[in-house]
Amino acid sequence: MYGSRSTMSVPVDEAQFLSILLKIMNAKKTLEIGVFTGYSLLSTALALPSDGKIIGIDVDRQAYETGLPFIQKAGVEHKIDFIQTDALSALHDLINGKHEETFDYVFVDADKKNFIKYHELLLKLVKKGGIIAYDNTLWLGTVAMSENKDKIEDSLWQNREPTLEFNNYIANDTRIESTILSIADGVTLCRCL
Ligand SMILES: C[S@@+](CC[C@H](N)C(=O)[O-])C[C@H]1O[C@@H](n2cnc3c(N)ncnc32)[C@H](O)[C@@H]1O
Repeated sequence: MYGSRSTMSVPVDEAQFLSILLKIMNAKKTLEIGVFTGYSLLSTALALPSDGKIIGIDVDRQAYETGLPFIQKAGVEHKIDFIQTDALSALHDLINGKHEETFDYVFVDADKKNFIKYHELLLKLVKKGGIIAYDNTLWLGTVAMSENKDKIEDSLWQNREPTLEFNNYIANDTRIESTILSIADGVTLCRCL
């Protein structure tokens, strides 16, 4: 149904890694920015205890509903609260709705150009010791490539600069401990101090 857009779902090795991380952390209250058809959402919901919760935010409800039968079949729909909205307004609403410092874990997988803005808001929402995971922080390896634009098509190359900027921002942020994992397309884990 989604053609080449299907590759937007995280790969299996990343989903399995994040699932084990959630269990090690005993995460209960979680958030996902960028749901698409719900593969990483389902993987997170399955990793949470029966009273765990995940709020999923995406502008595209149709994609979420495409994957919803699989979530229902897995018996975890009750853990999910899908909100169809733009991520920035959702984060402002969560801050205004007294969710400050209550999330154990957040997975960010949408709208790479706004990662720094999301980070600033998420630092208000995540508990001390909680994890914010950012996807695609190696951006197809382009962050390590020279300016030779022949290597990759322009539409993909455009995210290289914002990703480099975000990676530098995170590396210099003393409010967190961070690491870039070289699995999948690169996942940055930030532990809030
Ligand atoms: C890479 S896909 C998410 C894939 C999903 N995490 C998975 O692994 O199955 C990115 C999603 O972000 C959504 N998105 C893009 N910009 C957004 C924004 N500003 N606010 C909320 N969602 C957005 C798109 O609609 C798309 O479904």
